[in-house]
Amino acid sequence: MGSHLPVTQDGKASRELRLAAAGDIHADPPTRERICGHFRSLTGVDLVLLAGDLTTTGEVEQARVVADACRELEVPAVAVLGNHDWHSRHQDAIAAELTDAGVHVLQRGWITFEIRGLHVGVVGTKGFVGGFRGFQLTDFGEPLLREVYAETGDEVTAIESGLHGIAGCDLRIVLLHYAPTMVTLEGEPVSIWAFLGSDRMGVPIAEHQPDLVLHGHGHAGRFTGSIGDVPVYNVAVPVTGRPFTTFGLVPGSAPVVLDHSDG
Ligand SMILES: [Fe+2]
Ligand SMILES: [Fe+2]
Repeated sequence: MGSHLPVTQDGKASRELRLAAAGDIHADPPTRERICGHFRSLTGVDLVLLAGDLTTTGEVEQARVVADACRELEVPAVAVLGNHDWHSRHQDAIAAELTDAGVHVLQRGWITFEIRGLHVGVVGTKGFVGGFRGFQLTDFGEPLLREVYAETGDEVTAIESGLHGIAGCDLRIVLLHYAPTMVTLEGEPVSIWAFLGSDRMGVPIAEHQPDLVLHGHGHAGRFTGSIGDVPVYNVAVPVTGRPFTTFGLVPGSAPVVLDHSDG
């Protein structure tokens, strides 16, 4: 991480939020030391964002590894869950474990912080499937499929209302697990894109223009993308190749990737 502060045109140093993000940590007890070490080495950041799939197969003891790592943090941590965290149907216990460690677990929610004099808002939800332009699930046919469509619709509604909730913030961030654009899925087989996200989630993002959107889930996808002018990053660890990626955010400017070299 660098130590610069951006300078405005009038020569004054502006306030910068530094956040570290990671998705798809997929923790389990054998990786405890490595993962705790990664969290311990986080320095110079103001906020930690976790983009779901914190566990390998959704067991509480796997989530406890991340919870214990977060317990040592001196800055706020916000997490959404991923499909792996739901796999064993212990998603509520996993959320409780993380919450007990001080992590703000967002499930169709939003939260604000005052950091460095900045009002920072984070909308967080897992997101869901459905596909993208040209190969979208539609609201038609068997009730089960229509339930899937409706579930994604509820995620879209949560993103929309969350963005309303943080509308007045200096910095607005959307944290997801599933992808809201196919751009950051390039590299994944096109045949599975419909299971990796939905561009329906991109609609409120395009409308509200948050400063930054982060997601995971597409392990073989691409780091950088966008929805219109909104920057989107796939921070899945298998994509970034790093335990965390650090971003610098200044109100009114595009986010700067501070320590990512291989995206
Ligand atoms: Fe994953
Ligand atoms: Fe996932």
